Amino acid sequence: MQSKIIIANWKAYLSIVESEELAKEIYDFAKSKKDLPKIIICPSFPALPSVGKILCGRKNIKLGAQNASWCERGAYTGEVIAPCLGELGCEFVILGHSERRKHFNEKNPDINQRVKMALQNNLTPIVCVGETREEKQAGQRDDVVRAQVIECAGDLDPEPGQKIIIAYEPVWVIGTGQAVAPEDAEHSHQVIKQALVDKYSESEYNTHFQIIYGGSVGAGNLKGFFEKDIIAGVLVGGASAKAQSLKQLIEVCL
Ligand code: 13P
Repeated sequence: MQSKIIIANWKAYLSIVESEELAKEIYDFAKSKKDLPKIIICPSFPALPSVGKILCGRKNIKLGAQNASWCERGAYTGEVIAPCLGELGCEFVILGHSERRKHFNEKNPDINQRVKMALQNNLTPIVCVGETREEKQAGQRDDVVRAQVIECAGDLDPEPGQKIIIAYEPVWVIGTGQAVAPEDAEHSHQVIKQALVDKYSESEYNTHFQIIYGGSVGAGNLKGFFEKDIIAGVLVGGASAKAQSLKQLIEVCL
């Protein structure tokens, strides 16, 4: 199978100790495998230092954070700045997740600032977009997704070698156990690609962008998504935060 990415978003499911235990189990499991897919583990902020130490040394396993501030440094109590994430060994950062949009009122313009700050600090942003159930029912899916892509990631100036990952996550399937059909995900990936090609160019798109799917992915449906060329990987929540289901996901890729 062509090399695809699995991004594990552990959300706020685990304590530090539980995160370390899961990381150790995945590290040991990975040690026994020859050809791992590219795996990006995104624990909660407090678990980043120890999970990073446990996983470092495995070539195909990287560390990511679940958010980063739009400010570089300053009097912003409670913010986590991108330079700190780099110092902790993060190479990736999830931005604009629908749970951040819903519970913490993050909007496209400030997500755009976070994406720029991530790139300035050499982190690969994983920019989440996706329609709500109401938007889908109103027939607005493609317009909403296109607008999110353009407003969050339509005016970037990536340096050579820098990548931006766009994660299409239909909000209404997250955490339900019912993913969208691979064909529907493929359609939205095409919408996202077209929005980016319109803003950049086909060759810049190919150089700097990748699009992945998220929303109720598990070992049972992973293959269907990976069979689509345009789907470069998956962003997994619930199934990535338990040892057995994360190992099963990895097994599907071997
Ligand atoms: P689930 O895999 O639990 O549906 O979560 C998806 C998600 O939000 C990943 O960022």
